Amino acid sequence: MEIYSDKQQITLAINELKAKKLTIGMVPTMGALHQGHLQLVKKALEENDKVVVSIFVNPTQFDNKEDLEKYPRTLEVDVELLKTVNKNNILVYAPTVNDIYEGKTISQKFDFDGLEFEMEGKFRHGHFDGVGTIVKRFFEIVKPHKAYFGEKDFQQLAIIKKLVEKYNIPVKIVGCKIHREANGLAMSSRNTRLKPDYKIAAPFIYKILKTAKEKFGTKSANKVMEWVENQFAKHDILELEYFIIADANTLKPIKRKSNKKTYRAFIAVYADDIRLIDNIALN
Ligand code: PAF
Repeated sequence: MEIYSDKQQITLAINELKAKKLTIGMVPTMGALHQGHLQLVKKALEENDKVVVSIFVNPTQFDNKEDLEKYPRTLEVDVELLKTVNKNNILVYAPTVNDIYEGKTISQKFDFDGLEFEMEGKFRHGHFDGVGTIVKRFFEIVKPHKAYFGEKDFQQLAIIKKLVEKYNIPVKIVGCKIHREANGLAMSSRNTRLKPDYKIAAPFIYKILKTAKEKFGTKSANKVMEWVENQFAKHDILELEYFIIADANTLKPIKRKSNKKTYRAFIAVYADDIRLIDNIALN
């Protein structure tokens, strides 16, 4: 498996593949790969001749220095895991911060038509400018035909679709279903940092989402939100940051239920110092 840390080298490799008329899929990641990532890679391999997996902990999307420092970095293990999926058709791009940012580690400012101000945008300042900057940069370097993102970061997925539309980037964005542990916890690189008590408690988040979905069938959005807030208020160790029912297209909080719209519930929870997010389709 080829591992590139330099944009010139990966550009050359990709140009050669494209000259042979091969299709390129891309799975951007921050490493610490888990089964959820591997599902994205498998889907990308089914739909493309070659797949570039980028492994890069992007500093500009972190608003919290400690979170950036503690983010797991496990390149060797990640590469071994990718080899279990496919040894011949995956290229790993693991650039340095300098290779990407060339001495100016700052984000471009984006207008994502308001998608960036909802939910995560309210709690993680500058986060989506950082995500937009790195993903746009990756698309310029790798020029993939298709790129794959998980629905766990549903707002990020919506923003990347908007980025591609606004900048006319010729790549098809493919959203992939959330991959869960057997106990329902959405897979995330952050799960490895959960302390034992929090690991046991965390599946509560998805349990609540599933019950909220059931309740949304018969109750008002406000009643469902109130119920969720109460459940967390009673919880010993998990702390709710937000639970929001929003229009799945605009991501704006629901005002009055309409059967012409599709809704999704979004949640962010602190398990000690680890922030976990999840979401579920409601109708
Ligand atoms: O979802 C992630 O892992 C990151 O936000 C991404 C898309 C790789 C950009 O750094």
